Amino acid sequence: MDASAYDAWYETPRGRWIASRELGLVRDLLAVHAGESLLDVGCGTGYFTRGLARQREGAVSGIDINPAWVAYARQRDDLDIDWLVGDAQALPFGDKSVDLVVSITALCFIEDERLAVREMVRVARRRVVLGLLNRHSLLWWQKGRRGGRGAYRGARWHTPREARALFDGLPVTDVSVSSAIWLPGGGWLARHTEGCWPAWLHGGAFLLVAADLAR
Ligand SMILES: C[S@@+](CC[C@H](N)C(=O)[O-])C[C@H]1O[C@@H](n2cnc3c(N)ncnc32)[C@H](O)[C@@H]1O
Repeated sequence: MDASAYDAWYETPRGRWIASRELGLVRDLLAVHAGESLLDVGCGTGYFTRGLARQREGAVSGIDINPAWVAYARQRDDLDIDWLVGDAQALPFGDKSVDLVVSITALCFIEDERLAVREMVRVARRRVVLGLLNRHSLLWWQKGRRGGRGAYRGARWHTPREARALFDGLPVTDVSVSSAIWLPGGGWLARHTEGCWPAWLHGGAFLLVAADLAR
């Protein structure tokens, strides 16, 4: 897909609501301390990288395997983000070289997800936050079944238990799972009921797993 067409979705009313909800949750989970560095793995067109870079001081980098999307992200950047073309399965960063690592709906398209998570944990110093697609959600029924439709074609969907298990055997502590976007239509009902669902049900389309690096 063309980068500008992909990014344009974030400017639609539905896209804006979904993205702001996701961005808010990711920000809360990262709980950034002043001056901390951040890496966005599978940054795509850089929408979330830019969102996370705003109103903070630490260095921010985005990496993606698609050179055209990285070029687009670089062109839209007015925040001095460092953009790289590279593979999440072999991150060109040293061990414990970045404070925070985030990856938003990218792991679902990466061939060896376990290797990519291992790489993120290797380069992170404090916390890793993963945004995934939830197989236990209404969105999966609408767009995820039988190989997926539209932008979801070929995506891997996780259950909350599978999402948590991505960190099994890795040197992390305090793995937490949360979810958002229960009614993916994004209309009035979705917005007004979003906060009403019991958090422990983990039934939102967007699944978040956060883990702290063991000291
Ligand atoms: C659905 S897009 C998400 C992009 C962005 N994080 C967002 O939420 O808008 C998935 C991204 O994963 C990237 N990707 C797939 N395999 C990758 C890999 N092995 N290494 C790095 N990025 C990869 C794709 O190029 C694509 O930009």
